[in-house]
Amino acid sequence: MRETLASIKAQALEQIAQEGADLDALRIKYLGKKGELTAVLRGMGSLSAEERPAIGQLANEVRAVIEEAMTAKAAEQKEKALEAQLKAEKLDVTMPGMAPAVGHVHPLTLVQRDLEDIFIGMGYAIAEGPEVEYDYYNFQALNIPENHPARDTQDTFYITDKILLRSQTSPVQARVMEVQKPPIRIISPGRVYRSDAMDSTHSPLFHQLEGLVVDKGITMADLRATLSTFAQAMFGEQTKIRFRPHHFPFTEPSAEVDVSCFACGGKGCRLCKGEGWIEILGAGMVHPNVLRNCGIDPEVYSGFAFGLGVERIAMLKYHIDDIRLLYENDVRFLSQF
Ligand code: DAH
Repeated sequence: MRETLASIKAQALEQIAQEGADLDALRIKYLGKKGELTAVLRGMGSLSAEERPAIGQLANEVRAVIEEAMTAKAAEQKEKALEAQLKAEKLDVTMPGMAPAVGHVHPLTLVQRDLEDIFIGMGYAIAEGPEVEYDYYNFQALNIPENHPARDTQDTFYITDKILLRSQTSPVQARVMEVQKPPIRIISPGRVYRSDAMDSTHSPLFHQLEGLVVDKGITMADLRATLSTFAQAMFGEQTKIRFRPHHFPFTEPSAEVDVSCFACGGKGCRLCKGEGWIEILGAGMVHPNVLRNCGIDPEVYSGFAFGLGVERIAMLKYHIDDIRLLYENDVRFLSQF
């Protein structure tokens, strides 16, 4: 019996020591109710009274040794498993992170901000007006009475007979002059609307920037110097401007203003269509009727005004050949700016 116990002990210890030993199975095999050690203890009835305590003690020792070995092995296995888990879950903090996609400022907003910065730098304030406007401010106050032919080129969307979506930012001139007495020096950027079909150069919604200066002794020389300063800040120091006579109902005299082509310097290229000049805005001296409509005495005060299309400037500056690209919000297009 001593040999049996010795061999059980040796075998058990060997199996427990094995890599990946199944301790639960071994516990059943050796120490369980039907296990090998239990079988030995059961057979003790056949022993003599002298031998019984000695074998009983030996069997208990063997049990204790096996249990101890199992406990130690269990601790070792647990430690190994934890180590393996830590290794598998280790974070490499030196790996490059995943950058979140960051949006872009829209090219129209970029240009509008550039324009605002330039005029704010010259002492202008920003004025705002409503996009849903009275016929009065959009047309009548600006010396465009009902049935005036100028209304044809600025056909827009009507809410009622008297209320429309403004076709230009010029009504802000009248709104400012009604509430503010000279000196006035404002710009007014914003959305405008026309019932034009969408194509590569037209959109029923676009943006303008209006300018207005009213004070004593304002002349066309002030207008010219202001627009020249603006053109150089916007398109480069070499830029020249040119006035061509034109007609707007709310200015007299009126001009269309060109800048020397900033792509070719005036020699003629694809951008300026061989002209050397690019039209960028309309301007003029505020018509006395407009001043009078807004309660400003044209005998005392004079002023100039100008209006430009923000899309046009953005398309020229960034060489965009289709206005629709500015509204489609295709990220592949927008992320270029
Ligand atoms: N409002 C004009 C348009 O939409 C542009 C314009 C021309 C504005 C001359 C002005 C100006 O203030 O003086 O075509």
